[in-house]
Amino acid sequence: MAFLEVRELTLDYSTPRGPLRAVDSVSFSMEKSGTGLGLIGETGSGKSSLVMALARILSRNVSRYSGEVFLDGKEIMGLSNDAYRRSVRWKQISVVFQGSMNGFNPVMKIGKQLTERMLLEPGADRNGASEKVLGLLKDVGLSPEVFDRYPHELSGGMKQRVAIAMALCLDPRLMILDEPTSALDVSVQAQIMNLLKKLKWELGISMIFVTHDIALASEISDDLGVMYAGQLREFGSAEDVMLRSADPYTRDLLASIPRLHGGVGPKFVSGMAPDPIDRPAGCRFRERCSLAFERCVEDPPLRPVGGGAVGGAPAGSSHVARCWLVGAGSAS
Ligand SMILES: Nc1ncnc2c1ncn2[C@@H]1O[C@H](COP(=O)(O)OP(=O)(O)OP(=O)(O)O)[C@@H](O)[C@H]1O
Ligand code: SF4
Ligand SMILES: [Mg+2]
Repeated sequence: MAFLEVRELTLDYSTPRGPLRAVDSVSFSMEKSGTGLGLIGETGSGKSSLVMALARILSRNVSRYSGEVFLDGKEIMGLSNDAYRRSVRWKQISVVFQGSMNGFNPVMKIGKQLTERMLLEPGADRNGASEKVLGLLKDVGLSPEVFDRYPHELSGGMKQRVAIAMALCLDPRLMILDEPTSALDVSVQAQIMNLLKKLKWELGISMIFVTHDIALASEISDDLGVMYAGQLREFGSAEDVMLRSADPYTRDLLASIPRLHGGVGPKFVSGMAPDPIDRPAGCRFRERCSLAFERCVEDPPLRPVGGGAVGGAPAGSSHVARCWLVGAGSAS
């Protein structure tokens, strides 16, 4: 049984121009707990919508939210909002995003804010909760004095550490991190990445890490998923996706990473993703793909890289990609 299995997750927003499908029938799994999944892809590809759908943090204009999500074999999409809040949010799945560090109550001390979160657990007592908060502050590399400070007395990096401590309060199984370091300068970013690696290693917590930065994603990810125009384009072990990518979009994305050595400059993916409200039929990368051919007017399913069954393979720990050339020799 997979630790997390996502089946056909779909999310639409209602917009003045019509429905916008931000997440289009996305299926994948994280086979083992304690592992990291990196989600990469260019802006607007649906990364945040996908993880917010998993954490059921939905904006008001969501007009369709469907699919199945199994956490340790238990389906959680079918739970009522109340049941989800009681049994899943923060307890099983917690979220840290770029803005988390600015989401604290400015007039409440940090220790009290964390303690209040702890007290969401039935049976938790205030003294025990305070003790646990002090332990958590230590886990995230903060001194006990932070307990008595107000948010404005902390640097951005310290606040993001508190946001991570907040996400850990109720011992979740899965922590979702959406661009958690992109508002921080590079040295603080490196410290937070080291902290996340330590937490993954020491607490065995599973992570889904969303970023534009492929190098950052590869630091923490056992598996990588590549999103494009609402679809999963490629999924596999970080090694397979980084070193043996099979999808032309993933390859172009990887080629856009600047390299210090080798004398090869970055090659940016030219053109733009299709209008999300009026996507043309066929492969969504077709207009930008240098390998496009006649068949690309049909939408390719995810297929196992290196051959296998044709037609809609779900992305698990195996390597799959969404391109008609996969399995045909020239792209894989
Ligand atoms: N509340 C909303 N209402 C309408 N459209 C939305 C809403 N939120 C996101 N979108 C649209 O959904 C699509 C996916 O957006 P999303 O924010 O999930 O992408 P992303 O991959 O996280 O992008 P980024 O890397 O910039 O954070 C985009 O076309 C975006 O404009
Ligand atoms: S299916 Fe066609 S257009 Fe799409 S990535 Fe593959 S070759 Fe390019
Ligand atoms: Mg986003």
